[in-house]
Order: sequence, then structure tokens, then C-alpha cells
Amino acid sequence: MAGKKFLNNCQVQKISGKKTLLRVLRKKDLGKSLIWLKDPSVNMFLSHSFDDYTEEQEIKWFEFVQNSNNDVVFAIEDINTNLYIGNCALHKIDWENKNCEMGIVIGEKDYWNHGYGSDTVRSIINFALFDLNLKSIKLEVYRYNRRAINVYKKYGFKLIKIEKKSHFYNGKYWDTYIMELKKNIS
Ligand SMILES: CC(C)(COP(=O)(O)OP(=O)(O)OC[C@H]1O[C@@H](n2cnc3c(N)ncnc32)[C@H](O)[C@@H]1OP(=O)(O)O)[C@@H](O)C(=O)NCCC(=O)NCCS
Repeated sequence: MAGKKFLNNCQVQKISGKKTLLRVLRKKDLGKSLIWLKDPSVNMFLSHSFDDYTEEQEIKWFEFVQNSNNDVVFAIEDINTNLYIGNCALHKIDWENKNCEMGIVIGEKDYWNHGYGSDTVRSIINFALFDLNLKSIKLEVYRYNRRAINVYKKYGFKLIKIEKKSHFYNGKYWDTYIMELKKNIS
């Protein structure tokens, strides 16, 4: 399968941006990753509440991704110091219809608002559309995540659907935005 071959190549691939380096996620990254997922000020933006998430579940997820034909997860490093600061991923890659879903978390909060997320999003978009030759990328983001929405819009994601009051957070139901980036095919 062509897709699997691509993803196997990804396992050795490093993607350099201006501020970030994307490299394959390693098992030894999982401890730090789990701390980020359980941090309420980080996971308030994520698609799951990871309150009860265990180390065993994290390892199972890692093994699932490693064996998956349709998912790839990169660790995000600061390109200057090689500090591991977050994860980004393409999930549910549909090789036939050439689409996927995207996720990102910069877990090191000192790195928020310094351009690392934007740089990562640019790299992963290029990887998806040009290395993997996909045609579109979708993502979900909560309406209150103005920072993430700003980044996604900057790189051409458009709002295609609003799931009204679909996410309960902080005593209130919030809208979820479904955004999509389509490759310009002329
Ligand atoms: C969302 C995330 C990836 C963005 O990365 P980042 O490095 O913090 O963001 P950047 O510095 O690259 O860019 C942020 C942009 O949003 C703007 N911004 C910041 N806070 C904002 C706010 N409250 N409202 C509107 N815009 C905001 C910044 O000015 C900047 O805009 P610019 O590029 O035009 O200057 C990162 O903050 C993160 O991982 N957050 C926690 C998890 C998360 O939200 N994941 C996404 C789930 S959908």
C-alpha cells in the first residue's frame, strides 16, 4: 500500500521549519506528553478530557499509531535547543480520497504565542499536501480557542461547519468549529 510506504518513510524523516523541528515521536516522550494532556490549562483546548488517562492507555495509543497505516504523530522540538515542546499529528488519513484530520498541542506553555505553533502548522500542512499528496485537511477547534483559530485561518483553513453548543466547558456549552484547508489545484 502506497500510504503505508510513505508513513514508514516518515518514521525516519525530520521536518525543519524556521523555529521548529518535527521528528518521530519516541516512547520516551510519552511521560512529558501525558503531563501536558493532564494539565487543565492545556487540555481545555483538546478534543478529550484526559483526566483519567493512564500511562498504560498512552502506551497503547503510541503502539496503535506506530502500527497504523492512517496516522502519523510528530514530536515538536525547538529547532535551536532541541527541547521537546509538543506534538502534532495527521489522523484518519484516507489515501483513496486524499484527506486527513490534523491535531496540534504545544504542551510547554512558555512557548505559547511565540510563533512555534504557526511554524509547526505550516510544516505539517506542507508535509500533508506535498509529501503525502493529500488534497484536504480537516480539524476541529472550540470557539473559545481564538489563538488556534487565528493560526488556522492564517494558513488558509476555512470554517465549513459549526456544531452548535457541542462542547461543555467551564459551566457552559460551546460551539465546535469544523475547519478545512483545501489544496489549490489549478
Ligand atoms: C494553538 C497553538 C498550537 C498555537 O501555537 P502558538 O505558538 O501559541 O501560536 P503562535 O504564536 O504561532 O500564533 C498565535 C497567533 O494568534 C494570536 N493570538 C493569540 N492569542 C489570541 C487570542 N486570544 N485571540 C486572537 N488571536 C490570538 C497571536 O497574536 C498570533 O497571531 P499572529 O501570528 O498573527 O501574530 C498553541 O497555543 C497550543 O498548542 N495551545 C494549546 C493546545 C491547543 O489549543 N491546540 C489546538 C487544538 S484545536
